[in-house]
Amino acid sequence: MPKIVTILGSTNIDRVVKVPRFATSGETLTTDQHVVTMMGGKGLNQGVAAARSGATTHMITKVGPEFDIEKNMKSSNLDTSCVVISEESQTGQAYITVSEETGDNIIYIYAGANAELSVEDVHAQVSAITESAFVVAQLETPIATTIEAFKIARQHGVTTVLNPAPMPEKGGLPEELLALTDIIAPNEHESYLLTGIEISDRASMEANAKYYAELGLKTVIITLGSQGSFYMNKDGHCDIVPAFKTHAVDTTAAGDTFIGALVTRLNPTLDNLVEAMTYGAAASSVTVSRPGAQDSIPVEDEVRVVLEAHQD
Ligand code: RIB
Ligand code: NA
Repeated sequence: MPKIVTILGSTNIDRVVKVPRFATSGETLTTDQHVVTMMGGKGLNQGVAAARSGATTHMITKVGPEFDIEKNMKSSNLDTSCVVISEESQTGQAYITVSEETGDNIIYIYAGANAELSVEDVHAQVSAITESAFVVAQLETPIATTIEAFKIARQHGVTTVLNPAPMPEKGGLPEELLALTDIIAPNEHESYLLTGIEISDRASMEANAKYYAELGLKTVIITLGSQGSFYMNKDGHCDIVPAFKTHAVDTTAAGDTFIGALVTRLNPTLDNLVEAMTYGAAASSVTVSRPGAQDSIPVEDEVRVVLEAHQD
């Protein structure tokens, strides 16, 4: 039986331009590359990653009236019955520059319809949540909405996954949200903003994990870019799952792919975390090797090829 997951979160239209290097404040840089428009948003990227890895994926998200659901979501096999259309706002937008030097990106976001995803929208989709094994959320949609979804999930024994991205620079996250989270999956910087402990070595990773464990979170995954990802499982065991080596063309949506793909492989008992993370890492390596966000996210067969190529 295919796994059922719900992804609650953002949909963005990404406007991506490659630049020779990142500009500094006040500087003007010229690029000879075309501006490319493609689908993105951390929520939709994670949803697409899950759907392309074979899960039945309910996407709870809000878009503007101009959005083409057929073209941008159904083509990836997403279940779009939970998509809400705003009457007030345009679809969210992300302005992304990708450095040709490193493949890294800088992103500015206009939230648009994402900011309107409401508690009522979640109430209208309770059955999607309750039939899921996992509910995954990020921070590009209102926190109150995520709290409501996680409350419903908790009541029904559905595992909640929080990717705290983008993490607010100040103020942290509401305790209530963290208390309702089973698996937290930040990157290094996001984790630092949550815990106040900078990640520099293994001991500082474990100190970060301990911070979450003391709040009652069952499982911690900290993504480390090309270094792979650190985890602490439900038994308190810590280790690193390495990344698959690849030539980085564009790292946009790498973290999203990792999370969306991982939940399609993770058992509800969370006892195969390393296996699921390895699958997520393989999927993510494909995303990194190709330009763009949504377009670059692999299907199951492509991930399998990476995994088989790395078998001893
Ligand atoms: O994580 C990558 C995503 O962040 C992009 O697709 C962009 O839309 C922003 O939300
Ligand atoms: Na990419």
